[in-house]
Amino acid sequence: MSRRPLLLFVLSLAWLPAWAPAAEPGPERQAQLIRMVRQDCGSCHGIRLTGGLGPALSRERMLDIPFDSLLATIYNGRPGTPMPGWKSMISEADATWIAHQLQAGFPLESGPSR
Ligand code: HEC
Repeated sequence: MSRRPLLLFVLSLAWLPAWAPAAEPGPERQAQLIRMVRQDCGSCHGIRLTGGLGPALSRERMLDIPFDSLLATIYNGRPGTPMPGWKSMISEADATWIAHQLQAGFPLESGPSR
């Protein structure tokens, strides 16, 4: 009897992680990211993200921006403006999570750094 089918099955399992979607940051990382957005993003966008040097990051405005542009703005920044890219500090999964939170209305009222 040939063992090849079993071998192929095992090999196919090894590829599974590559197909899985990028993992969402875990609870601890989420808490760090919330703190970072409030403090670092807040230093330009306002402590309540209602605007400062940078525009307000309101839910309405964030939903007006196509998700990919929002993600690119956070990850790469906006060249020629003070908006810095954050890719040296956060992963793409982190940036994706932040973009989703901004579009959902960033949590300001509760959470670890209250
Ligand atoms: C040094 C100041 C500064 C910091 C820090 C900063 N931003 Fe910005 N941001 C800006 C400025 C200025 C703009 C406007 C850029 C432009 O003119 O297009 C901007 C634009 C944006 C936009 C697009 C808003 C719109 O209405 O088009 C988003 C989204 C954004 N920032 C998110 C973030 C996030 C998230 C962080 C933290 C991870 C952050 N910013 C940190 C200055 C900053």
